[in-house]
Amino acid sequence: MSEPTLYIITGASRGMGLAMAQQLLAPHHQVIGISRGSSPMLAAQAQSSDAALEQWTHDLAQPLSAAQALETWLNAQSADRFQRACLINNAGVVAQPGPIEATSLQDLSNAIRVGLEACLLLSSAFLRATAHWQAQRRILNISSGLGRRAMAGSAAYCAAKAGMDNLSRAMALDEAAKPKGARIVSLAPGIIDTDMQAQLRSGDPSKFPDQPVFASFKTSGQLMSPDEAARKVLRYLARDDFGQTVLADVRDV
Ligand SMILES: NC(=O)c1ccc[n+]([C@@H]2O[C@H](COP(=O)([O-])OP(=O)(O)OC[C@H]3O[C@@H](n4cnc5c(N)ncnc54)[C@H](OP(=O)(O)O)[C@@H]3O)[C@@H](O)[C@H]2O)c1
Repeated sequence: MSEPTLYIITGASRGMGLAMAQQLLAPHHQVIGISRGSSPMLAAQAQSSDAALEQWTHDLAQPLSAAQALETWLNAQSADRFQRACLINNAGVVAQPGPIEATSLQDLSNAIRVGLEACLLLSSAFLRATAHWQAQRRILNISSGLGRRAMAGSAAYCAAKAGMDNLSRAMALDEAAKPKGARIVSLAPGIIDTDMQAQLRSGDPSKFPDQPVFASFKTSGQLMSPDEAARKVLRYLARDDFGQTVLADVRDV
């Protein structure tokens, strides 16, 4: 996309979010990453590619302040600055694999707040602040197959992704009723060789029966690289028919 486009990506410091941010650095693009950490490599790449990048450090387990900061920033932009504006809710966490009584309250809260509450609040801030913009607006929520089927040892993650899916469907109904409503998709990105997969395959099989499945994803070479996954997801984001199917999976196309 060569038109002036805004991309806001949560979880842009590592994994697939970092790869998406790297691929989006280009002239006419404004990229904003929101994570606890920032990536010096991404900053260096932005400098050499004439792309506008801001890396905001926020803990999305406390998502109110990040959503307020986003709304303030969006309100300060002129309504005709961008032709397209995209919010990518990508940050997600798995709690230590195991049943909920074996997982700390802190970890459970973190998984739901980062995976679901942040998505809700950032989407609300984005939709409100950009409602009068000329830009075509898109929200891409990065879901998982585990939002659509349950797996033992990952209840909080499954709940966050299932919540994200139905949140997306309900938001899409609200937006469809507006003359220039945003388009919304909740997309399962496939299985990706990131820290999240490493955490799952290092789980304790006595508490996490699917641990061997995750170990074999790695040993049998089934994991996509973050770059490849990011390419597929961004291709989906750019589709003309983006939003026609709210619950989607990159493996279906
Ligand atoms: N990997 C897979 O196989 C797979 C499969 C299906 C779906 N997904 C989904 O794809 C998305 C990306 O996953 P990934 O594998 O790339 O994950 P990852 O490598 O674990 O990276 C997670 C990203 O989320 C950010 N994050 C985590 N906790 C945060 C917090 N409290 N506040 C702000 N940011 C936080 C991290 O940044 P900081 O640590 O700097 O905060 C990091 O940038 C997730 O939504 C995940 O559920 C992944």
